[in-house]
Amino acid sequence: MLPDALRAALDQALTRYSPQELSRSVAHLTESYRTPSAGGTHLRTQADVAAYAAYRMPATYAAAGAAMRQAAALTPGFQPATLLDAGGGTGAAIWAAGAIWPSLRQVTVIEHDPHVIDLGRRLARGSEAAAVRETTWRHAAIRPGLDRPRADLTTMSYALGELPERDRPDIVRWLADSAAMVIIIEPGTPAGYATIAAAREVLSGQGMTIAAPCPHGGRCPIQPGRDWCHFSVRLPRSSLHRQVKAGTLSFEDEKFSYVAATAGPSPRAEARVLRHPQKRKGVVSLRLCTADDGLRDVIVSKRQGELYRRARDVDWGDAWPGGEG
Ligand SMILES: C[S@@+](CC[C@H](N)C(=O)[O-])C[C@H]1O[C@@H](n2cnc3c(N)ncnc32)[C@H](O)[C@@H]1O
Repeated sequence: MLPDALRAALDQALTRYSPQELSRSVAHLTESYRTPSAGGTHLRTQADVAAYAAYRMPATYAAAGAAMRQAAALTPGFQPATLLDAGGGTGAAIWAAGAIWPSLRQVTVIEHDPHVIDLGRRLARGSEAAAVRETTWRHAAIRPGLDRPRADLTTMSYALGELPERDRPDIVRWLADSAAMVIIIEPGTPAGYATIAAAREVLSGQGMTIAAPCPHGGRCPIQPGRDWCHFSVRLPRSSLHRQVKAGTLSFEDEKFSYVAATAGPSPRAEARVLRHPQKRKGVVSLRLCTADDGLRDVIVSKRQGELYRRARDVDWGDAWPGGEG
């Protein structure tokens, strides 16, 4: 759930613009979502940046937070003091990290759009976490070899896929350099998954341990083109969201793919739930990625007592004990 302070800061950011400016920005956003070929979500004015942040930041915050929580659950001893967020936008990932790791003392965002930095900095001033409030916002274009501070945790949320494909392996290596943990999040689409799968290979090649979501460090058992590894978080829609999507639904499901890797050894989930569990009377069906047999569909029945009770509570994306079922 979006922290109250971020919700209030996003609402406050919108009050700087006249209703006319905002409705132009909302119309522009609506158009770019209806016809993605019509120029994507190119942000032209500061009002566009504020409207886009109010519209998208709750979703990327929720996705980054969900990925980070899974990584943190496996590594309770990991207490990062420093965070570098590359392609940080208006700061969704640093807000999410600030809520999960209160140990953070120093945060740096690298972002190449000055209007985006300006809004991110204003929003961050409302955070309860001192490290988020005092973030260093660095105006620079990410490229392999760009000078950057050393950081215990490095993140890239919904940004790697915006960079030229040929540069991505070097950028992932740049991100991994001397970090204890790297977390990369992308949209939960086939293209987002392909970006994550390629980044996962690079991180493994750097000698890092793939900690999450995979229960193993081997080849991904998902066949490209047939399926893609992704997860989902549900979040309430804001009124601006309803305007853009012209819908009445009170919630939005944000799909995302991610990888978390650690420099040292890391415990892994024994298995990971890859779909919404199907719950019917007395049985729960789970699609799992397992450490030993790759993908497995299992059915847990009421007769299995404690395992069934766990299956009733488990969500898409959660760890699951082995290939049991
Ligand atoms: C989709 S937004 C995601 C922002 C944020 N990380 C989040 O999760 O909400 C991608 C961000 O990456 C930034 N970006 C794209 N290419 C970049 C580059 N080469 N150097 C720095 N920032 C870049 C964009 O300006 C934008 O703010």
